[in-house]
Amino acid sequence: MHSRVLLIGFMGSGKTTLGSRLARSLNYDFVDMDQLIEKNAGMSIPDIFNEHGEAIFRKWEQKTLDELCKRELLVISTGGGAPCQSSMMEQMNQCGTTVYIYLSAETLLSRLQKSRTERPLLKDKSENELMEYIKWLLKEREHFYKKASLIVDGEKLTVDTLTKILKST
Ligand code: S3P
Repeated sequence: MHSRVLLIGFMGSGKTTLGSRLARSLNYDFVDMDQLIEKNAGMSIPDIFNEHGEAIFRKWEQKTLDELCKRELLVISTGGGAPCQSSMMEQMNQCGTTVYIYLSAETLLSRLQKSRTERPLLKDKSENELMEYIKWLLKEREHFYKKASLIVDGEKLTVDTLTKILKST
């Protein structure tokens, strides 16, 4: 098994919750890229988008990934847009075992309806616009996500199942 595991997938696919539990199960450290960026910047993701813009945020994602890939025994929960920037998906595949947590647009919608204000890309979308936007963005991003080493169905995924899958790689 690789000494680094990177969870990738759309906003709301459960990367952070699953990642912290997975790290405990594997006895690895856990880092959520967004939380680390927020800590280093001293401000929240919405404030980073407001004050610096998305392009700067994407640069910080790149820098954060570069740093994290130097560490060992680590589960990394990545931001939903990170694997879709330039060659970051290729870099992630070199960094460790990448796991795409797949969920349907319908499931993502029900999860994201509750938490969209925390997400700059979703906060201005009306109820009606949200489903169309999720479907469109998922389609744009899926070919990046599908380059992952493993693709798992996030619907009924448990940490035990994911641990077993990873230990068999
Ligand atoms: C983003 C996803 C967010 C965060 C930022 C941008 C995206 O992370 O990095 O709001 O482009 O999909 P989560 O996937 O953890 O919500």
